[in-house]
Amino acid sequence: MKPYVILNAAMTLDGKIATENGSSNISGEEDLKRVHELRKECDAIMVGIGTVMADDPRLTVHKVDANPDDNPLRVVVDSKCRTPIDARITNEDAKTVIAVANEYKDDFLKSEKYQTFKNRGVKFFFSGSEHVDLVSLMNYLHEEGIEKLMLEGGATLNFSMIKSGLIDEIRICIAPMVVGGEKAKTFFDGEGFPVMDLAARLELVDSYSLGKDLILTYKVLK
Ligand SMILES: NC(=O)c1ccc[n+]([C@@H]2O[C@H](COP(=O)([O-])OP(=O)(O)OC[C@H]3O[C@@H](n4cnc5c(N)ncnc54)[C@H](OP(=O)(O)O)[C@@H]3O)[C@@H](O)[C@H]2O)c1
Repeated sequence: MKPYVILNAAMTLDGKIATENGSSNISGEEDLKRVHELRKECDAIMVGIGTVMADDPRLTVHKVDANPDDNPLRVVVDSKCRTPIDARITNEDAKTVIAVANEYKDDFLKSEKYQTFKNRGVKFFFSGSEHVDLVSLMNYLHEEGIEKLMLEGGATLNFSMIKSGLIDEIRICIAPMVVGGEKAKTFFDGEGFPVMDLAARLELVDSYSLGKDLILTYKVLK
């Protein structure tokens, strides 16, 4: 069993979710409100360590009316537990789980960082050998009562999640901007599928304009 997973992101018309330098303020004000309403509806929000390093996100609900109970559980996929000690995602505004790979477990459990995070209430889930096993992570989160999970990137984790068949729905904000850059992160990076026949198949279920942006909702066909 696993939570229902909604991948939400904002990209430029050319499919970039950040510039080469990591700048990623793409959504208009209206879209940011939509994102925070969606966060409020979800039981958990998950990101990869690349996003934590690039953006230092809080992943709380703060752009719409909300109280502390509206903050979903925050989940970081971080094999080596590189999450910085002062990362905002580990603050006391909401609960946090960091998923770490087994290969790094023993050393990590002996580290000062582990004690600091533990004292702050951060929890850990260990799975996979070199990288976090996403299927086990989804099972664990479901067992912990997470029914609806919002995946908020980045490019590498998005691809691993879709390749593993773990995404149910995609909501994408397309901003009327073009940024280019062959090293700029796209909506899905990772190793990619080798041939089109293997591409993940989607069905468009909704589309509308929001301010200057375009919002598309897709179901992922299984
Ligand atoms: N515009 C948007 O909507 C949006 C949203 C989010 C992020 N972003 C942007 O995306 C960029 C970050 O993307 P990113 O691709 O560098 O990083 P990412 O997808 O956030 O994190 C990827 C990292 O997660 C770790 N990981 C552990 N187990 C994994 C697994 N099974 N599968 C995949 N990853 C696993 C890996 O690092 P370890 O091996 O060290 O664990 C991997 O390098 C930032 O520039 C950010 O601004 C944009």
